Amino acid sequence: MLFRSVVILVFAFFSPLVVRASAPEGRRRLRSSAFAVPGTDATYDYIVVGGGSAGLTIASRLAEFASVAVIEAGGFYEQDNGNQSVVPFLGLVMPFLATTEGYPKQPLMDWGLVSSPQAGANNRKIHYAQGKTLGGSSAINTMAYLRGTLGSYQRWADIVGDPTYTFANLLQYFIKSTHFTPPNLQKRNTPNATVFYDPSVFDNSKGGPVQVSYGNWVDPTINWLSSALRALGLPLSPVGFNSGSLSGYGAWVTSTISPEDAERSTSQSSYLEQAIQNTGIMIYAHTQANKILFDSSKKASAVSVSTQGLEYSLSANKEVIVSAGVFHSPQLLMVSGIGPQATLKALGIPVLSDLPGVGQNLWDPVFFNVLWEVNTPSSGTVIAANPAEALEEYLNDAAGPYSSAGGYFAFEKIPASLRQNFTQQTASALAWFPTDWPEVEYIVSGFPSGTGSTIGAVSPTLLAPLSRGNVAITSQTMSDPPVINLGWLTDPADAEIAVAAFKRCRQIWNTGPAMSIRIGPELVPGAAVSSDADILSYIRQSVTPIWHASSTCSMGKAGDPMAVVDSTAKVFGVKGLRVVDISAFPFGVPTHPQGTVYMLAEKIADDIKNRK
Ligand SMILES: Cc1cc2nc3c(=O)[nH]c(=O)nc-3n(C[C@H](O)[C@H](O)[C@H](O)COP(=O)(O)OP(=O)(O)OC[C@H]3O[C@@H](n4cnc5c(N)ncnc54)[C@H](O)[C@@H]3O)c2cc1C
Ligand SMILES: *[C@@H]1O[C@H](CO)[C@@H](O)[C@H](O)[C@H]1NC(C)=O
Ligand SMILES: *[C@@H]1O[C@H](CO)[C@@H](O)[C@H](O)[C@H]1NC(C)=O
Ligand SMILES: *[C@@H]1O[C@H](CO)[C@@H](O)[C@H](O)[C@H]1NC(C)=O
Repeated sequence: MLFRSVVILVFAFFSPLVVRASAPEGRRRLRSSAFAVPGTDATYDYIVVGGGSAGLTIASRLAEFASVAVIEAGGFYEQDNGNQSVVPFLGLVMPFLATTEGYPKQPLMDWGLVSSPQAGANNRKIHYAQGKTLGGSSAINTMAYLRGTLGSYQRWADIVGDPTYTFANLLQYFIKSTHFTPPNLQKRNTPNATVFYDPSVFDNSKGGPVQVSYGNWVDPTINWLSSALRALGLPLSPVGFNSGSLSGYGAWVTSTISPEDAERSTSQSSYLEQAIQNTGIMIYAHTQANKILFDSSKKASAVSVSTQGLEYSLSANKEVIVSAGVFHSPQLLMVSGIGPQATLKALGIPVLSDLPGVGQNLWDPVFFNVLWEVNTPSSGTVIAANPAEALEEYLNDAAGPYSSAGGYFAFEKIPASLRQNFTQQTASALAWFPTDWPEVEYIVSGFPSGTGSTIGAVSPTLLAPLSRGNVAITSQTMSDPPVINLGWLTDPADAEIAVAAFKRCRQIWNTGPAMSIRIGPELVPGAAVSSDADILSYIRQSVTPIWHASSTCSMGKAGDPMAVVDSTAKVFGVKGLRVVDISAFPFGVPTHPQGTVYMLAEKIADDIKNRK
C-alpha cells in the first residue's frame, strides 16, 4: 500500500505448486476431483459464493462434515499474478493497487472497481482494488495481521445483542484460524527492533492454518521512524496488537506470512490447501454467481452461475452463504431481491425482503502521507542496490528485504492539545466510540525515491470515521459493476480529525530520531502548506483507501431497520441464506480487518455446525 511509486517488472511466473501437499491423498484429490467441471447443474449441502478470505475459511470448515461447493470468479493467483502475490515485498508494490482512474489494469486478479466521484476528495474517482482470485483480497493485501480492541468487540456484542461477540468469547476463533510463529531474532538481527508480544493469545495446538509471523528482516527506515513514534511520547504497548488493545507504540506488527519459506499465507494457501487434502470440497473457479434463487417459502435453494458464458445452477440442500466481499455481497443480495424496496422496484426486481440497510453503512477509513527524504536505506533501496544478493538471500534463507511486509504502527486518540479546538459537534460525535477505540493509526515506512535515496513516510489512517458511503446497483445484473460511493471526509468531524492527525505527523517528523535521518525540507506536502484550510485541501487532494471498507450488509438486532443479518449472519426476511465476510461487520473495526474476517468465518462455521 505504501510504495506506489515503485514499479517492479513482473511477468507471468508459473508455480506448479498450486497445492504443496505432501500427503499422496492430497495429490490425488488435486489431480482428480477438487475442481468441478462447469456447465452441469449439481447439488451440495452448502453453496459458498466467493472463494476469498471468509469464503474459503467457512467452506473449508463446513466441508469437514458436509458437501460444499465454492463459486469463485477468479482462478489461482500463483499462476495469474506470479511472485507478486507470493513474495511479501512484491505484494507492497503491485502496480494494479494504484488508486488513480488510470491505474494499470490486472483483470485476472482485480475486479477493476472505480468509485463514483468523491465529493470529499476533490471529486476524484478512486480505483479500489479487490481480489478476484482464490484467496480473494488475502492474495493482494499487505499482510498485516491485527485484532481489534476489547471495547470495540464489546460494542459489537451490544449492537447485535449477543454476548458471544466480546473479545474474551471471540478469542477461541481468532486462535482457531491462526498458526503463530515468534520472531526469528537471528534473521531479524537489528538493534532497537525489539518485538513485544503476548504468546498467550495464540495457541497452535488449537490453531488453524493461516500463518501469522514477523518479517525475517527489519527495514532500517522503519526502525528509525519507530524510534520517532516512541520519542513522540506515546506509551509503550508491551503486548503487541493481538490482545485486545491498540494503544501507543511498541509493536512490530505480525504478518500473514509463512516464516519458513517467507511466502504470503492466504485463505487459499492455508484453508483451501488443507481442505483439498482432507475433505471433498468442490471448487468452481472462473465462475461468477449471478443470482440467488429462492423456493416458494423464501428459502435460498440455488445459485445461478456462469462460467465463460455457460449458464447453469448449483443447488443447496441446506444453505447458501454469500462471501463475495464488501461491494459484491450487497450487490448480489440486491439483484436477488433483498434490499431497499424502492431501489429494487425501480429496476424491476421482485422484492423478497425489504431491507433498507443493504448496501448502506459503508465504513472506509482513509489514509494519507507526510513525506521527507531520509538518509537511511529501505527494503526497496537495498534491493535496488544489490538485486542478486537480495534474491539469493530470499530464495536460500527466506530472509532479507524480499521476505518481509512487516511494518510498524502506533495508535492513539488525538491528544488533548489538538482536540481542544474540535467543534462541540465533533467532540460529541467522537464520544460514541469506546475509550479504547483509537482515532488514528500512524504507519511508518520508506520507499525508493527513484534516484537511489529513500523517501520516509508517516501516514495516518482515520479509524473512527463518521462519514458513511454506500453501494448501489443500476441494473438487474452482476455483469454491471456496483456503484460505489466511499463517502470519504463528507462528515465535517472527519475533516477536523484529519487535520489534527496531519499535525501529529509533523510532530513525529520533528522528534529527535526523525530529525536525525531527514534531509532537506519537508517533501510532501511541503512547509508552505500550513493553515488548517491548506492542510485540509492537501488531504482532500491526496487521500487514498487503505482498503478496509466494511459493513455494507451490517449485522444487527431483529427490528433494527438498517440491520441486514442477525448475529449468526442469517439474512433477515428469508431462509437458508447468510452473509459471512467483511460486509457483515456492524462497523469498521479500528484496525486492519483480516484477522477479524477469518475469526468471523470460523465463528459462523461453528454456529452452523451447532445448528444455530
Ligand atoms: C490492497 C489491499 C490491502 C489490504 N491490506 C490489509 C492488511 O494489510 N491487513 C488486513 O488486515 N487487511 C488488509 N486488507 C483488507 C482485507 O484483505 C479484506 O478486508 C479482507 O480480505 C476481506 O475479506 P472478504 O472475505 O470479505 O472478501 P474477499 O477476500 O475480497 O473475498 C471476496 C471473494 O468473492 C469473490 N466474488 C465476488 N463476487 C463474486 C461473484 N459474483 N461470483 C463469484 N465470486 C465472487 C471475489 O473474487 C473474492 O475472491 C487489504 C485489502 C486490500 C484490497
Ligand atoms: C519474480 O519473477 C520475476 C520474473 O520471473 C523474476 O525476474 C524475479 O527475480 C522474481 N523475484 C522474486 C523475488 O522472486
Ligand atoms: C539504536 O538506539 C541507540 C540508542 O538510542 C542509538 O544510538 C542507535 O543509533 C539506534 N540504532 C538504530 C538502528 O536505530
Ligand atoms: C486552536 O484555535 C486557535 C484559534 O483559532 C488557534 O490560535 C490555535 O492555534 C488552535 N490550536 C491548535 C492546537 O490547533
